[in-house]
Amino acid sequence: VKVRHYKWDVEYMFWAPDCEERVVMGINGQFPGPTIRAEVGDTIHVDLTNKLSTEGVVIHWHGIRQLGTPWADGTASISQCPINPGETFTYRFVVDKAGTYFYHGHYGMQRSGGLYGTLIVEVPKGQHEPFHYDGEFNLLLSDWWHESIHEQEVGLSSKPLRWIGEPQTLLINGRGQYNCSLLPNFGNSSSTQCKFSGTEQCAPQILQVLPNKTYRVRLASTTALASLNIAIGNHKMIVVEADGNYVQPFTVDDLDIYSGESYSVLINTNQNPNKNYWISIGVRGRRPNTPPALTILNYKPTSASKLPTISPPITPAWNDYNHSKSFTKNIFALMGSHTPPATYDRRIALLNTQNRIDGFIKWAINNVSLVFPPTPYLGSIKFGLKSGFDQTNPPENFPSSYDIMSPPANPNTTTGSGVYRLRYNTTVDIILQNANALGANVSEIHPWHLHGHDFWVLGYGEGKFTKDDEAKFNLKNPPLRNTVVIFPYGWTALRFVADNPGAWAFHCHIEPHLHMGMGVVLASAVERVQGIPSNALTCGLTAKMFLKKKNIP
Ligand code: C2O
Ligand code: CU
Repeated sequence: VKVRHYKWDVEYMFWAPDCEERVVMGINGQFPGPTIRAEVGDTIHVDLTNKLSTEGVVIHWHGIRQLGTPWADGTASISQCPINPGETFTYRFVVDKAGTYFYHGHYGMQRSGGLYGTLIVEVPKGQHEPFHYDGEFNLLLSDWWHESIHEQEVGLSSKPLRWIGEPQTLLINGRGQYNCSLLPNFGNSSSTQCKFSGTEQCAPQILQVLPNKTYRVRLASTTALASLNIAIGNHKMIVVEADGNYVQPFTVDDLDIYSGESYSVLINTNQNPNKNYWISIGVRGRRPNTPPALTILNYKPTSASKLPTISPPITPAWNDYNHSKSFTKNIFALMGSHTPPATYDRRIALLNTQNRIDGFIKWAINNVSLVFPPTPYLGSIKFGLKSGFDQTNPPENFPSSYDIMSPPANPNTTTGSGVYRLRYNTTVDIILQNANALGANVSEIHPWHLHGHDFWVLGYGEGKFTKDDEAKFNLKNPPLRNTVVIFPYGWTALRFVADNPGAWAFHCHIEPHLHMGMGVVLASAVERVQGIPSNALTCGLTAKMFLKKKNIP
C-alpha cells in the first residue's frame, strides 16, 4: 500500500488527434492525460494546477466511489468549486476496488474537449483476478469534433438550438484518422489510405501479441455522445469485468459500450499467426455519420505493416436494438458476488423527457431541467446555506397518465436545482423511464451514471414501468455497475444502498444532454462528512461564509 504522487498541469494545446490540428485539453503536454496505475488500497494524490487562462477546471475519477472523501469527486457545483486559473487543488483518495476506470473533466464541456485519461487499479501483489491472462492492453475510446467546445457549448445554449451533430472522428487512446483511413474506402468513407511514418500524433496504436496467449483488453468509453460497438476480426471476446466489477464470463463476437462504461474482455490469440487482424469500432444507437475507427491486432513476428487479409468486422446496424439488448441482458454478476437487499426503502421514478423553455431545448427529469448553482451542494448542505439551491424536493414520480410513446403534449418545463435527500444506509430503487423526445418517433439511448456508489441493475423492460414488473426483478445475480443504459421507449430499474455520505451527481453521461439539464443531485448524511478542505469551497455562498468567519468552522 502506498501513496502515488502526481503533479499535473491542465492546459490547452495544439494537437492533431485525427491528423487535423486543433486545440485539445492536455495534461503535462500529453493527450490523452497520463495513465494512472495503482493497487487496491493505494492512495492517489494528484496536485492539479489549472494552466487554462480562461476558465476553471475539475477532474472526476469516474467509477471511484470516494468513500469518505466526497470532496475529491471532482464535480463542479456538487463536490467542489472549479479550480481557478493558476491555482492548484489536491485530489487525494483511496482506490479500494480493482478494475478499469478513467478520469475526465466535469465542468462545462471539458470532457468533449479531450480532458480524460485511464485509471487502472490492480489486485494487490500475491492476489489473483478470477481469470488468467498473459498480457494486457488498454483502449480508451472517445469521440472528437473539429468545432471547439466553446462553439459547441454556445450552440447548445442558443435559440434556436445548434446541435453539435455527429463526431468527425472516433479516437482509440486519443488517435483517429480523418480524411484518410488505414484501409481505403472502409465504412462507406471514400477516403484514401493514410500514410504514416509512425511518429504522427494520429498514428494508430497497434496491439502486438504473441500467438497462443490470453490477453486482457481493458475498454473504457469516455465519449461525449457516441454509443460504440467493438469487434476484433476472427477473435471472440470473453467479457469478465464491467465498471470495476467482475461479471459471469460470457463470450461475444462484438460488444456494445456506452459512454461512462468500462469492460475487460479476454482474447485468445489462437488464429493464424502469419496474419494480422482488424479491430474496428463503430457507432450504435444514432444514425452514424462517423467512419469506424480501426487499428490492428499484430501477431508477432509478423510485420505490423502487413495489412489484414480479412476485411474489418462490420458494426451491427445502428438501430438494431435487439442486438444491443441481448448483449446487455447477458451481463450477470460473477457467481458468488454480493446480492442486493431483498427490498427497498424508497423508490424514485425518473421520467426522461426532451422539453422547451422559452424556445430553448432542454432535457428534463420529472419535468425539472437541472441547472447547477454557483455554490457546491456539498458546502451548502454541510453548512445549512439554504439559498444555495432550491429547497423544494424534486418530484419522486411522474403522472401515471403520461404518454411515453408520443411527443410531450405540453413540452414546457422548468429549471430547478433541488436535491433528493436520501436517508443514510437506506436502500433506494430508481426506475429510469424513457419516453418519446420532441420529434415524433424519436426516443434516444441515455447511459445514466451514478457518482459515489455502484448499483445493481435489477432489470430492463419495454414501455412504461408498472407495478407488475417488479416481480421480474433479478435479485439473484444482478450485475453491479456505475453506468446503465435506458433503451428507447423502455425502462431500467436499479438498486443501491445510500451508504456513502456526500452530495452526488446522477446523470446522463452524454455530455451535451447533461449540459441541457439531464441529471439529478442526490445527497445523503452530509452531516457525517468531516474534513472538507476549505479550498474546495472558495466560491459562492461558502466563500462568503469563510470571509465572515475568517476561518472554517
Ligand atoms: Cu463520468 Cu458525472 O461522470
Ligand atoms: Cu442522454
